[in-house]
Amino acid sequence: MTRILGIETSCDETAASVVEEGRLILSNVVASQVDLHAQYGGIFPELASRAHIETIHPVVTKTLDEAGLALDDLDAVAVTRGPGLAGSLVVGVNVAKGLALGAGLPLLGINHLEAHIYSLRLVEGAEDFEFPLLALLVSGGHTELVLMTGHGEYQRLGGTLDDAAGEAFDKVGRLLNLPYPGGPSIEKAAREGDPAAVDFPRAWLPGDDGEETYDFSFSGLKTAALRAVRRLAPDGESLSSQATADLAASFQEAVVDVLATKTMRAAEAFDVREVFIAGGVSANTPLRERVAELVRRPLRVPPLFLCTDNAAMVAACGHFRYRAGQRDDWALDVRPTWPLA
Ligand code: KG4
Ligand code: ZN
Repeated sequence: MTRILGIETSCDETAASVVEEGRLILSNVVASQVDLHAQYGGIFPELASRAHIETIHPVVTKTLDEAGLALDDLDAVAVTRGPGLAGSLVVGVNVAKGLALGAGLPLLGINHLEAHIYSLRLVEGAEDFEFPLLALLVSGGHTELVLMTGHGEYQRLGGTLDDAAGEAFDKVGRLLNLPYPGGPSIEKAAREGDPAAVDFPRAWLPGDDGEETYDFSFSGLKTAALRAVRRLAPDGESLSSQATADLAASFQEAVVDVLATKTMRAAEAFDVREVFIAGGVSANTPLRERVAELVRRPLRVPPLFLCTDNAAMVAACGHFRYRAGQRDDWALDVRPTWPLA
């Protein structure tokens, strides 16, 4: 049986967690910086790394206390090595090195995207993964369709050419004067709106052979949202709450339509046994519902507390990496860009 300490500081959450055997969460502490960044309407990288430095030790101490364990009781320290903000990743990686070195434990550098996939092992009663499976990874930094053929075996089918889905939610949220982060705010506003009010563009992105690709693009949609706001409020006046709700619903519909349709087509093309959605945007209910409706095969989505960044998923992924024999040396560096495949 393994007990692994996970550490996550790739973006704006400082998190630590202890997970047993890659599936049972013994403790899970997340200190969010949302309030800190809300005043800027987005993540301010220098402030993020400073906040990680201030918070990481109390977060690790708390997670060990809550698990009722000391470092000596653990098998390894797993830490997010990338992708993410360089200055933020460095904090977690250095703390993990210090703890592992001090306690004589192995150090494991973990890919944040892979960790999001392993968040689905932490669901109570979760069965083992059935391969091949298709993962739609949607967060503030990523939008990827990945084929997983075994533990540690990935093929990237496509990804965003510009903004990530969550980033588009955040930017359009700001445009609509909704509180940061935009994703949950837009979802909430959209409940009162008409998804057919504005016919926003969908980027289907056909390849040279005319076949649709598994890539995504959200920048045209963002520009269309800006134009719609200007049309409705030409003098910069604030939008009525109904107009805001209609724009939010129509924007969300356009994003969900493209994400769910491409996921369905990839699931069919590769005849996968399961479909996963993970990452912050997987918290979106209309997205979950639409994918469930279209893919017609077993679908897993994480509970809300595991959708957004956390360290339990890093520890769960660390379990598989540890079992596969991964051991990193003390020169482990951060990888701000690190594709999964
Ligand atoms: O995975 P995550 O916590 O951090 C990254 O790795 O980026 O994802 C955060 C992103 C933000 O862009 C946020 O707006 C989005 O996830 N998000 C949502 C929802 N909840 C969070 N987007 C749409 N609907 C939601 N309910
Ligand atoms: Zn993430």
